[in-house]
Amino acid sequence: MHIRPMSPEDVPAAEQISADAFFELDLALRAVTEPLPERRNAERGAGWIARTRRFLETDPGGCWVAEDAGEVVGLATSIRREHVWCLVTFAVRPTLQGAGIGARLLDAAQQHGTGCPRAMLSASADPRAARRYHAAGFALHPQLRLSGAVDRSALPAVTGLRAGRSEDLEWMDEIDRHHRGGPHSADHDALGGDEALVVAADRSGYAYASASKLTLLAARDEATARDLLWECLARSGEGFLAGHVTTANGWAVDVGLAARLELTTRGYLGLRGMAPPAPYLHDGALL
Ligand SMILES: CC(C)(COP(=O)(O)OP(=O)(O)OC[C@H]1O[C@@H](n2cnc3c(N)ncnc32)[C@H](O)[C@@H]1OP(=O)(O)O)[C@@H](O)C(=O)NCCC(=O)NCCS
Repeated sequence: MHIRPMSPEDVPAAEQISADAFFELDLALRAVTEPLPERRNAERGAGWIARTRRFLETDPGGCWVAEDAGEVVGLATSIRREHVWCLVTFAVRPTLQGAGIGARLLDAAQQHGTGCPRAMLSASADPRAARRYHAAGFALHPQLRLSGAVDRSALPAVTGLRAGRSEDLEWMDEIDRHHRGGPHSADHDALGGDEALVVAADRSGYAYASASKLTLLAARDEATARDLLWECLARSGEGFLAGHVTTANGWAVDVGLAARLELTTRGYLGLRGMAPPAPYLHDGALL
């Protein structure tokens, strides 16, 4: 078994491993009250492949695979954005987990962040992942989830927001620099995939969300953050999920519970060299 840089030809095999690993994990950790998990479908798989191929262009030094007998058996992809290193995906073939492959992959990927004062990752609830991240010096902050159908009678009137445009990206990146030490820059394309971008007209915050979930929300102040989250809830369909809320973002818990969403916990925001950002609800992969 050896660890080597990921090549474009490895990406489909890496996608399969990550789909298998997360599906098995979802099956293993499913609460009895939850529906059966579904394996990542072809459309989402194609999105994963396209995003990872972009990382091979922007961050070739951050993307690694483990190879055994000519087959890819594990992967770690990571990106560096100015002063912050972010672990995007980390997975090992389910039958080979717990044997030290993940430790070697993480060591390799972390070299890409050498000299970065800050590091972020969104950890699954896998206890193996928690051990690896803790050993790598990450502080693990529990992630809260707000999910369910929005009580539309609770929606307040919100003003001062509009649809985002490409010329907004520059000030949005400034907010990201403030909160996490680096912009989303090249990652805005992926964040805006199926999601709408809503921004504060006074440039004090922004959010990416679809009808079913919040992807990322960043603001300069809590009042703007609340307005943005309410707006995303107002646009929601049958069910909505804000899956990455830290306790530093109590304002989001206030909004979610006022909208009668359910509060649960899953996984961790792993941080090194920084406190949990707020008002800021991170994306699960691009942070
Ligand atoms: C997380 C993951 C990538 C780690 O890779 P791995 O090869 O399993 O990791 P390692 O074997 O290097 O390390 C696992 C650690 O957990 C321990 N471990 C193994 N099985 C465990 C279990 N059932 N419960 C708790 N700890 C366990 C190992 O002993 C090891 O700790 P140690 O080095 O202190 O002894 C892999 O387990 C995986 O793909 N999990 C599912 C997908 C996932 O959650 N990815 C992380 C996304 S943030």
